Amino acid sequence: MALCSKYLALFLIHTCLLLSLCSAADPFVSYDFEVSYITASPLGVPQQVIAINGKFPGPTINVTTNNNVAINVRNKLDDNLLIHWSGIQQRRSSWQDGLPGTNCPIPPKWNWTYQFQVKDQIGSFFYFPPLHMQRASGGFGSFIINNRAIIPIPFDTPHGDVVILIGDWYKRNHTALRKALDAGKDLGMPDGVLINGKGPYQYNATLVPDGIDYETIEVQPGKTYRLRVHNVGTSTSLNFRIQNHNLLLAESEGSYTVQQNYTSLDIHVGQSYSFLVTMDQNASTDYYIVASARFVNESQWKRVTGVGILHYTNSKGKAKGPLPEAPNDEFDKTFSMNQARSIRWNVSASGARPNPQGSFRYGSINVTDVYVLKNKPLVKINGKRRATLSGISFVNPATPIRLADQFKVKGVYKLDFPNKPLTGSSKMETSVINGTYRGFMEVILQNNDTKMQSYHLSGYAVFVVGMDYGEWTENSRGTYNKWDGIARSTVQVYPGAWTAILVSLDNVGVWNLRTENLDSWYLGQETYVRIVNPEETNKTELPIPDNALFCGALSKFQKPQDISFAVSITGNRSKLFFTLLMAVCALMSLFG
Ligand SMILES: *[C@@H]1O[C@H](CO)[C@@H](O)[C@H](O)[C@H]1NC(C)=O
Ligand SMILES: *[C@@H]1O[C@H](CO)[C@@H](O)[C@H](O)[C@H]1NC(C)=O
Ligand SMILES: *[C@@H]1O[C@H](CO)[C@@H](O)[C@H](O)[C@H]1NC(C)=O
Ligand SMILES: *[C@@H]1O[C@H](CO)[C@@H](O)[C@H](O)[C@H]1NC(C)=O
Ligand SMILES: *[C@@H]1O[C@H](CO)[C@@H](O)[C@H](O)[C@H]1NC(C)=O
Ligand SMILES: *[C@@H]1O[C@H](CO)[C@@H](O)[C@H](O)[C@H]1NC(C)=O
Ligand SMILES: *[C@@H]1O[C@H](CO)[C@@H](O)[C@H](O)[C@H]1NC(C)=O
Ligand SMILES: *[C@@H]1O[C@H](CO)[C@@H](O)[C@H](O)[C@H]1NC(C)=O
Ligand SMILES: *[C@@H]1O[C@H](CO)[C@@H](O)[C@H](O)[C@H]1NC(C)=O
Ligand SMILES: *[C@@H]1O[C@H](CO)[C@@H](O)[C@H](O)[C@H]1NC(C)=O
Ligand SMILES: *[C@@H]1O[C@H](CO)[C@@H](O)[C@H](O)[C@H]1NC(C)=O
Ligand SMILES: *[C@@H]1O[C@H](CO)[C@@H](O)[C@H](O)[C@H]1NC(C)=O
Repeated sequence: MALCSKYLALFLIHTCLLLSLCSAADPFVSYDFEVSYITASPLGVPQQVIAINGKFPGPTINVTTNNNVAINVRNKLDDNLLIHWSGIQQRRSSWQDGLPGTNCPIPPKWNWTYQFQVKDQIGSFFYFPPLHMQRASGGFGSFIINNRAIIPIPFDTPHGDVVILIGDWYKRNHTALRKALDAGKDLGMPDGVLINGKGPYQYNATLVPDGIDYETIEVQPGKTYRLRVHNVGTSTSLNFRIQNHNLLLAESEGSYTVQQNYTSLDIHVGQSYSFLVTMDQNASTDYYIVASARFVNESQWKRVTGVGILHYTNSKGKAKGPLPEAPNDEFDKTFSMNQARSIRWNVSASGARPNPQGSFRYGSINVTDVYVLKNKPLVKINGKRRATLSGISFVNPATPIRLADQFKVKGVYKLDFPNKPLTGSSKMETSVINGTYRGFMEVILQNNDTKMQSYHLSGYAVFVVGMDYGEWTENSRGTYNKWDGIARSTVQVYPGAWTAILVSLDNVGVWNLRTENLDSWYLGQETYVRIVNPEETNKTELPIPDNALFCGALSKFQKPQDISFAVSITGNRSKLFFTLLMAVCALMSLFG
């Protein structure tokens, strides 16, 4: 009976978990990720890249709203590992967010299974390894959430669904890049731009060496394809375009947009878009797909250009001529910003729910908390070159914040992130934003540096209500778009400019607010927003997963990986076993 009551307790926890995690109707989908180094030569020089199941980039996760997803990640690197599902909101469960502020890393040779429901979301996202700048060596892939069958997408079903991962790339691996940053150096100009892990097509023999493998996307004439384009790079904004083809913008990180044609679009680090592209050309040649560095001296950065090939099945020859031109806006700094402002929410389209996206009238909600966050050029703190946000350079705690809360470990972090940038000297601190549960937060991101930055908030989509050059003031609110600003998870902030976002803090947990530029992030430009429901309830946050890893001050709780108990209770078959066992126990306790 003692055994039974022990199992009974477990059973109850388990049942609660099952009930809250998934309604029975929502299907389970599982993936296995084996993360390892392989040798690849995307720019013609062999280098170690991070592969998933031997592939670089990693496989596409392709699921449907409300699916229960399990991804068993096996760490075959010689380094700690986490996988962050960027843009996936992890409703009520920052336990699955895969960031060092919430989760302990998966040690080398271990595996860990992420289990989450992709609730109330649709759209195009990506995943990547967030620790130690590993993303600069790969480990990324696309993460798609499709509409449920009962909710129509606001356009005709495309003939095909194509993932395009673009990003700047170095021949040096992430370890070498980190070393440069540790030594107080800049990363310098990237060596190229990759498209789906491949180098440029040899469009110019002076600029592109022989023998580079490039990406070819094969299409049928006359058909329309959905291209999901993600900037998974290190720190370069890229202009994306396809020779002779219009890009009809349809979705950005989970929001259907007002559909508009662009000849090219700037995609900043960490951002994702869906374009509908109709193959309406006569296929006299193949066509160039281009992702080129933006806001840089183009004559110096020519080699930092990704070139792939769009190949019609009836194509009559190779792509030719010069690459399609990037916007010629050297003297017009508003061009790109106006383009960004033109991206609007389609308020009448349905997203993850049957009701229109616009029925969440963000413009009429009162703001409860205001944060002005400022990016400044790198500073020296205690002799080290650091990046700051509002004068604070974040220090990741040894014990993740969410775990520290759970086990009441004191002194791990301070809940004192300032509403306004600190004046005076910068400091290194584990300083966290005290989010108000159910509050409506306004965040103004002010970029006082000379380089583009993009910022990401995990756990949420944020409304992008305004951006402009100069210093934000209270009067700037008069320019906010209170009607059809796009909801997304990653926003760009132009140098010398600000971007304002609004966010409804309804997702309990500890959520990362960071720059997507890997160098600034590595050097400390991030914080977390901690959102706690003051009411004692188990309804607004899922319990700590039974396979949670422990580290830092809680290392003593960590059992060795090969303990079969820890392994068995997460498996599906064992769930059934437990359920049966518990039924027996329950009967025994009834009659015994
Ligand atoms: C490790 O992988 C095995 C199967 O390969 C699985 O049964 C087990 O649950 C995984 N462990 C964790 C902690 O996810
Ligand atoms: C994702 O799955 C859907 C069907 O569920 C399929 O139509 C689509 O082509 C897939 N997309 C990718 C990129 O694999
Ligand atoms: C990265 O590059 C460094 C220096 O080139 C090399 O020593 C190291 O083995 C490479 N791989 C990893 C995973 O760091
Ligand atoms: C190739 O690039 C080089 C260097 O930018 C340039 O001088 C040359 O004109 C280009 N060649 C062609 C055929 O466009
Ligand atoms: C976008 O461009 C295509 C041609 O490539 C055209 O057929 C379509 O009507 C345009 N759509 C909009 C909304 O402008
Ligand atoms: C195909 O289109 C190109 C450019 O629009 C044009 O120059 C060419 O003459 C066309 N070829 C045919 C066979 O129609
Ligand atoms: C861009 O670089 C070229 C070559 O180094 C240089 O001559 C030119 O002045 C630069 N242009 C600008 C606008 O800085
Ligand atoms: C907005 O979405 C609706 C579907 O509700 C669709 O019919 C319409 O074409 C979309 N409008 C634009 C401008 O994209
Ligand atoms: C917002 O605040 C205004 C003035 O403080 C108040 O009149 C209004 O009722 C509030 N609106 C909501 C939706 O709470
Ligand atoms: C955090 O905010 C809550 C109200 O949302 C407040 O009660 C609490 O005192 C704050 N904590 C700190 C440390 O400021
Ligand atoms: C940074 O801020 C200072 C002081 O407000 C201002 O003079 C300067 O123009 C700003 N620089 C940029 C790039 O925003
Ligand atoms: C929440 O669940 C835990 C066990 O998982 C239980 O000990 C606690 O009493 C519950 N709290 C509330 C308020 O229901």
